[in-house]
Amino acid sequence: MASTIQEKIKELKVKRNAVILAHNYQRGEVQDIADFTGDSLGLSQQAAKIKADVIVFCGVHFMAETASILCPEKLVLLPDENAGCPMANMITLKELKIKKREYPNAAVVCYVNSTAAIKAESDICCTSSNAMKIVSSIPQNQEIIFIPDKSLGGYVSSRLNRPMILWEGYCPTHHRILAEHIAKMKLEHPNAKVVVHPECTSDVIALADHVASTTGIAKYCKETNAEEFIIGTEIGILHRLRKENPQKIFYAITQLADCSNMKLISMEKVLWSLEDMVYQVEVSDDIAIRARVAIQKMLDLS
Ligand code: 13P
Ligand code: SF4
Repeated sequence: MASTIQEKIKELKVKRNAVILAHNYQRGEVQDIADFTGDSLGLSQQAAKIKADVIVFCGVHFMAETASILCPEKLVLLPDENAGCPMANMITLKELKIKKREYPNAAVVCYVNSTAAIKAESDICCTSSNAMKIVSSIPQNQEIIFIPDKSLGGYVSSRLNRPMILWEGYCPTHHRILAEHIAKMKLEHPNAKVVVHPECTSDVIALADHVASTTGIAKYCKETNAEEFIIGTEIGILHRLRKENPQKIFYAITQLADCSNMKLISMEKVLWSLEDMVYQVEVSDDIAIRARVAIQKMLDLS
């Protein structure tokens, strides 16, 4: 008979024909029991190709919604129904429709950190790992409304030298990382590489040696010869970085970069989720059909 929580989860996974997907910011214990850990793009790609009846999504609501849109035949469970993303709530459908009327010829590029209803009203989705490629796919002479993250949008805009109409949304967790924190850490660890996520502010990004999605950060830290890294993203990623590179040293720029929503899911909640089949994330057909078009266009280009 199964005794530890991990054993019970393993047993129920077989019984339910379930897989566990976990975002790189999840608690270490949750990352360790997951079948796949990744960034938003990687998790969407996994969800799309996985053969299972149930997906337990350890992340935040928009991620589970995206999985449900891509796999309407599968049951998608979010172990804590309160795990949301504040950035995704910084734009409403009404506001987006007003903006679209203001710029009727603009293409709407929507960061995946958004609700299904917002995706349904957008032309194409992007994640932090493919935003540059997605924006480049829009004809040069067409205007772009980039929603909802002004930091990712600003970063892409400056890298591509392409003006865009930026929404005023942002990630409160990444905006707690300050340039002065980096300056202080660089004095203490002059040989460390500074690696940050594009949800950070532009003055933080300007101090970075490398800017990437969470999986991009993991790849860079593994493949680069440096021995020390100063990490500018949500601190949950340090678990994966330290596990994959036991000989290297990682410093969080600040412990304040802790997303409370990402931390709502625990191993116990994963177990309860599989026991009670909660909380089911569903998207109504009228929204899912249109949102799927925007997500699929992104996946086709990725
Ligand atoms: P990525 O893992 O795609 O880099 O996204 C980070 C994020 O904001 C998740 O909430
Ligand atoms: Fe949202 Fe930021 Fe938390 Fe990601 S880290 S879920 S963008 S608040």
